[in-house]
Formats: sequence, structure tokens, C-alpha cells
Amino acid sequence: MKIGIIGAGGVGSALAVHFRKLQHAVQIANSRGPETLSKVAEETGTTAVAISDVAKGVDLLVIAIPEKSVPLLPKDLLGALPSGAPIVDTGNYYPQRDGLIAQIEGGMTESEWVSSVLGRPVIKAFNNIFTYSIINGGLPKGSQTRIALPISGEDMKAKQLLIALLDGMGFDGIDAGPLSESWRQQPGTPAYCTDYNAEVLRGALASANIAIASQMRDAGFQTVMSLPPDTPPEEIVRFARAQWTTFA
Ligand SMILES: NC(=O)c1ccc[n+]([C@@H]2O[C@H](COP(=O)([O-])OP(=O)(O)OC[C@H]3O[C@@H](n4cnc5c(N)ncnc54)[C@H](OP(=O)(O)O)[C@@H]3O)[C@@H](O)[C@H]2O)c1
Repeated sequence: MKIGIIGAGGVGSALAVHFRKLQHAVQIANSRGPETLSKVAEETGTTAVAISDVAKGVDLLVIAIPEKSVPLLPKDLLGALPSGAPIVDTGNYYPQRDGLIAQIEGGMTESEWVSSVLGRPVIKAFNNIFTYSIINGGLPKGSQTRIALPISGEDMKAKQLLIALLDGMGFDGIDAGPLSESWRQQPGTPAYCTDYNAEVLRGALASANIAIASQMRDAGFQTVMSLPPDTPPEEIVRFARAQWTTFA
């Protein structure tokens, strides 16, 4: 496949490395231009392109930028995206980082909001796993502790494509239903950054509680921000699990 990635930070770069290992052609863009991405392109084996070109001719487009930046994407960006090419939203909403987004505060799921801003359907995936685990957490199919990731959206064909892609990366993909249910994988839920296997993840998604999700998200954000910068990523996953004693 040819894959476009918007955002060359933690998530965009980690996904780029996996996609290249799987022999996909990857073009990557940020807001500042390809000349600022030569190091990233060299390290990940991708082609740095202008934001206006990142969707051109791709089979899959991944958006890996902060939520607050989505409305800043060029308006004509998606005109170049071939029809039928899925858009994957990896984003999360943190009001402390993104400012208040009224529609999400009003109950829209994050990715429904992204979809409404873009005017195109999106699939939510890769949002609930730390970049450390994306890079280091892949395991062979059938491993008891293989991390599973939820995939939400309406496009069944796109979800199957992503499940196959995840499998190649060393993860199980789980169809988590339509975008309206994707709050179950947002920050503040038991599925968020807990690196569970498929069986436990299904239980985590089912028992998510929308009434406490934003409160848990904000508490989690504060805790993670207060941790020393050298806190081992495994410890942060342990902390995320410990919030949900039912699943720990
Ligand atoms: N970090 C994690 O472990 C993790 C895991 C899963 C999901 N997420 C979510 O995934 C999203 C990205 O996270 P991240 O950690 O990868 O962020 P990051 O490291 O801060 O990288 C963000 C990237 O987006 C680019 N960007 C920002 N505004 C842009 C715009 N208007 N147009 C094009 N590119 C733009 C930035 O480049 P320039 O500013 O130079 O343009 C940068 O390359 C966030 O919503 C985050 O919550 C994060």
C-alpha cells in the first residue's frame, strides 16, 4: 500500500517505522514543510512531503496530530485523497492541551468531531496505546499477552484492512463498533493505554462508564504530568491498569 501520515511526532513516526517494515510506501508531513522532516524521513525510511501532497494517491491516510490542530489542516487537503481510501484518526482530546472543544464537551465522540471537521468519515484506531508500546509491544499471533487494539467506525472494509495491518505489526485488532461507541476507547476508560490482550480488552470496552470518563481522563492526565520524565513506560501502563481494579 501507499500510506500517508499527517504528523511526524511520537505516533506518526512509530507507525511509519512499522508500515515501512511491512514494505508499505510511506509519505509523511507536518505543518512546517518537508525540509523540517529530513531527519525523521531518514530515521523512518519515509518520504517527507508537503502537507498539500500527503493525501495524493494514498490507499490509507493516518492523522496523528493534536486534536486542536485538526481544524488547522488545509481545507483542500482531502480533495487529493482517492475515493474509498480510509482516514484513520489516532487523536485524543485533552482539554488541558487542546482547549475546550464545545461539541466534544457536549457529548460528541472525539472522532465524530474530527469527522465533522474534515467532512469525511474516519476510523478511530491507535489512539489508546503509548508510542513506547507501539514500537516495542508487538508479539507473534497467538501469544497470550499480545496487545489488542480497538478499531471503531462505520466502514467494515476499512476496519478489516486495519485489523490485517495491525496483525502484521504484532497486535490484535478488535472491531469496537461504530464511531458513536468510540468513547469506550477514549482517555478515561479501562481500554485506554492498558495494553490488554483481546479477551480482557473486550471486557474493558464493555464495562466503560461514560458518566466518569472525563473525570478519569483529567485525573489520569494530571497524574501522568506529575510523574518524573524518566518514569519507565511499563510503570505508566501499570498505573493505567491500576485505575481499573476490575481488570488489573
Ligand atoms: N504520544 C502517545 O503516546 C500517543 C498515543 C496514541 C495517540 N496519541 C494521540 O495522537 C495525536 C498525536 O500525538 P503525538 O504524541 O504523536 O504528538 P506529537 O509528538 O506532539 O506530534 C504531533 C505532530 O503533529 C504535527 N502537527 C501539528 N499540527 C499540525 C498541522 N496543523 N498540520 C500538520 N501537522 C501538524 C507536528 O508537527 P509540526 O508542529 O511541526 O507541524 C508533529 O509532527 C494526539 O492527538 C495524541 O493525543 C498519542
